[in-house]
Amino acid sequence: MENYCIVEPRYERMGYRRAGRSGILLSEVSLGFWHNFGADAEYDVCKAIVHTAFDNGVTYMDLANNYGPPAGSGEETFGRIYYESFRSHRDEMIIATKAGHDMWPGPYGEWSSRKNLIASLDQSLHRMRLDYVDIFYSHRPDPNTPLEETLQTLVDIVRQGKALYVGISKYPPSMAAAAYDYLEREHVHCLLYQGRYNMFTREHETEILPQAGDRGVGYVAFSPLAQGLLTNRYLHGIPEGSRMTKSKFLRPDSLTPDLLDKIDRLDRMASRRGQSLAQMALAWDLRLPEVTSVIIGASSVAQLEDNLKAREHLDFTSDELYEIDQILGNNPLAEKCCSH
Ligand SMILES: NC(=O)c1ccc[n+]([C@@H]2O[C@H](COP(=O)([O-])OP(=O)(O)OC[C@H]3O[C@@H](n4cnc5c(N)ncnc54)[C@H](OP(=O)(O)O)[C@@H]3O)[C@@H](O)[C@H]2O)c1
Repeated sequence: MENYCIVEPRYERMGYRRAGRSGILLSEVSLGFWHNFGADAEYDVCKAIVHTAFDNGVTYMDLANNYGPPAGSGEETFGRIYYESFRSHRDEMIIATKAGHDMWPGPYGEWSSRKNLIASLDQSLHRMRLDYVDIFYSHRPDPNTPLEETLQTLVDIVRQGKALYVGISKYPPSMAAAAYDYLEREHVHCLLYQGRYNMFTREHETEILPQAGDRGVGYVAFSPLAQGLLTNRYLHGIPEGSRMTKSKFLRPDSLTPDLLDKIDRLDRMASRRGQSLAQMALAWDLRLPEVTSVIIGASSVAQLEDNLKAREHLDFTSDELYEIDQILGNNPLAEKCCSH
C-alpha cells in the first residue's frame, strides 16, 4: 500500500522543456540528491521534500552512485521513498543516476571502465529498487580509459534496457564533441549534458552550451544556486547546519567580502523584482533556451517551495541583465550582453 496521495493539478504548476532534439520533456526545476538525502539526513524531511517536488510537477530526480554520505545512501533513501510512495507513478518520473566518481575500494570502484560502469549501475538499480533508470550518465571525463570503451558501454547499457537514455557530465568541449559523434553513430543520441552553471560560474556560455544547442543535446544545470551562495543563506553569517558547516565542497573561506558584497547587491535587486535571490538565480539560468532544467538541492521543504516559485517571474529586461553583469563583474560576456 503506497502512502502518497495525488495532488492535482500538479502538472499545471510546472513548465516543461524539451531536452535537445529528443522526445523527452523535463521539468524546468529538478531535484538533486547530492546532499541532504544521506544516512545522516532525517528520513521524514527527505520524504517530505520528494513528495513536495512531485506535488509541484517536478518529474526529474537526479541521483548518482556516490551521493550520501556515505556513498550509496542517497540512492537508498530515494529507493525507500520510491518504494513507499511512488511505485505506481514510475512512468511519471525521469530517474537518473551516474557513475565515474570514487565509489568502492580497489581499481574498479571509480572512473569509467566497462567494469566500473556496468557494476555500478547494477548496484544503483538495487539500491533504488528499480528495474531500469531513465538516464545513465558518465559522471566525469576519464583521462585514462579510452573514450570508446566508456561510450560503447553506455550504448550497451541502453541496448540491455537498463537505461533508456544516456548523458555525459563535466566533459570538456572536445571530448563532448567526440562523445556526441560516437553515440550518434551507434544510434544512441546523447540526451543531456550536465554541467555547473550559475551566476558565479559562467564558463559554459562560451562553448559547452552553444555546442549542446547545435548538437541537439539538452543541458541541465547543476548547483544553480552555487550550493547556497546565491540565496540569502549566508548573508548574515554562516548558519549552524548549513552546507558550509558540514561539506568539504563549500568552504567558509569562499565567503570573501567581495563575494558577500555581490550577493548582497543581487539580493537587493531580487527584492526589487519581487523575488528571493534564489528565485532570481534560477530564473537567470532558465533565461537561456539551451538550459532544459535547473537541478536544485534543498535541505527543507521551505527551500524547495521558495525555489519552485522562481517560475512565477522568469523574464528579465535587458537593463536587468546588464545590471546583473555589472554586479558580477569580470565577465567577458558583459559587453556583448549590454549591446542588445
Ligand atoms: N554532475 C555533477 O558532477 C554534479 C555536481 C554537483 C551537483 N550535481 C547535481 O545537482 C544537484 C544540485 O546541486 P547543489 O545541491 O549544489 O545545488 P544548489 O541548488 O546550488 O545548492 C543547494 C543548497 O543551497 C541551499 N538552498 C537551496 N535552496 C535554498 C533557498 N531557497 N534558500 C536558502 N538556501 C537554499 C541549501 O543549502 P543548505 O544545505 O545549507 O540548507 C541546499 O542544500 C545535486 O543534488 C546533484 O543532483 C551534479
